[in-house]
Amino acid sequence: MALISAPFSLKTGIKIMTNNPNSAPDRWSSHFVFMLATIGSAVGLGNIWKFPYIMGENGGGAFVIVYLLCIAFIGLPVFIAEAAIGKKGRKNPWESVKDIAAGSGASKNWQVAGWVGMLTGFLILSFYSVIAGWAAAYVFKAASGSFVNASAEQVGDIFVNHITNPYQLVFWQTLFIVVTCFIVAKGVQKGLEKAVNTMMPTLFLLLVVLLLYAAKIGDFSAALSFMFNPDFSKLTVNGVLVALGHAFFTLSLASGIIIMYGAYLPQDTPIVKTAVGVAIADTVVALMAGLAIFPIVFANGLAPQAGPGLVFQTLPIALGQMPAGIVFSTLFFVMILFATLTSSISMIESSIVFLIEKFNLSRKKASLISGSLLWLIGFATIASFSGMEFAKVDFHYLGKDVKNWFDIIDHTTSDILLPLGGLFIALFAGWVMKKADTSEQLQTSPVIFTIWQTSVRWIAPLAIVVIFLQLIGIISF
Ligand code: PHE
Repeated sequence: MALISAPFSLKTGIKIMTNNPNSAPDRWSSHFVFMLATIGSAVGLGNIWKFPYIMGENGGGAFVIVYLLCIAFIGLPVFIAEAAIGKKGRKNPWESVKDIAAGSGASKNWQVAGWVGMLTGFLILSFYSVIAGWAAAYVFKAASGSFVNASAEQVGDIFVNHITNPYQLVFWQTLFIVVTCFIVAKGVQKGLEKAVNTMMPTLFLLLVVLLLYAAKIGDFSAALSFMFNPDFSKLTVNGVLVALGHAFFTLSLASGIIIMYGAYLPQDTPIVKTAVGVAIADTVVALMAGLAIFPIVFANGLAPQAGPGLVFQTLPIALGQMPAGIVFSTLFFVMILFATLTSSISMIESSIVFLIEKFNLSRKKASLISGSLLWLIGFATIASFSGMEFAKVDFHYLGKDVKNWFDIIDHTTSDILLPLGGLFIALFAGWVMKKADTSEQLQTSPVIFTIWQTSVRWIAPLAIVVIFLQLIGIISF
């Protein structure tokens, strides 16, 4: 492949590929689509099982209050910083940060903040696509009636047999990656935008249907008191750290995503308002998911603190006993599948743009290369779940006992690279970017600007350092 340097569109500052006549300068057609796409990225497994469960464990309503504060004063400012970097840089996260650093007269080393994010997003996707494959398989299992009147043991067997069978895992992971690449290969407006335009309203509708079903058939009042009773006695310092970490994860921060999606923002977008909309929608979806799941779990006398098993084991048992369980369990897994798909397209996008910009590839070729690489790296997770000998390890690594390759990738990304990437981004936006640039991007009042700047300069970095040191076991509460 000849490395012809691509010309620049003066109007948009985005590279137009010489070998791809279809690649018009890509932008979202409106702020609303950006919001939909970003909400699509944010809403995923984190909202559907993790949020309700950590909320229940850490004092219900008390945890919600702390979580909302973390979103408002840490998650949102970092989100705004990423969108501003993307909108200013208009390239893949790595190049955007590099260009802005150069333009601000800062060290080239700041580009680390860009590529660490891209790498993190890509590595997260390597295992996310395997787990999303479970959801795809479960759509078919649910629709074929596998869970109808099944005992807890039978549902447990179905789960274990599925996640330890490498052929099944490869099959569904491959399918999931193919669909993801198929969407992104079509470009921003024809691919990503069309996908979120159909999947997000459907996801929301399914969530409302499931919530109404849960309210009618399940134990809604038990769920309400489980989720919203503000029991401050249950809230520990550790709970506050969990809320902080989750605020980061759920908004898809520090993984190159918001920088990349921000690069496609229309020029006149009010970033602050848009970011607030995304954060509210993400939280509302998380709360609604809890209200759809827990009434069903409680009505069957099952335990709510089941972690990953909540979605793939507890819920199928519960739905299998209920009227029209086949329909509603199928809809539930379709909903999860859509939630994971709108996240996966966001995670792969920046690697594709990187290949297009760096090697002047067409979007199709770049998607194929990125998808194939992802597929290969995914074997580390597949080999780990299916218990293959060569994927087993046993050592203590930065605060965690790791047992297999999946543990290493998960811990490295979620616990180490996400907070570190977030720290770099906050410091970069707060201290390195010129004030003229950030205020031009934010387009907001001086008061809000000062709050944002104080957060990215001080509050977010300090909070991230504390979570990080706690996660890797250097400090404990
Ligand atoms: N935000 C997604 C969720 O809640 C997960 C995610 C994290 C996606 C980081 C991309 C990057 O499930």
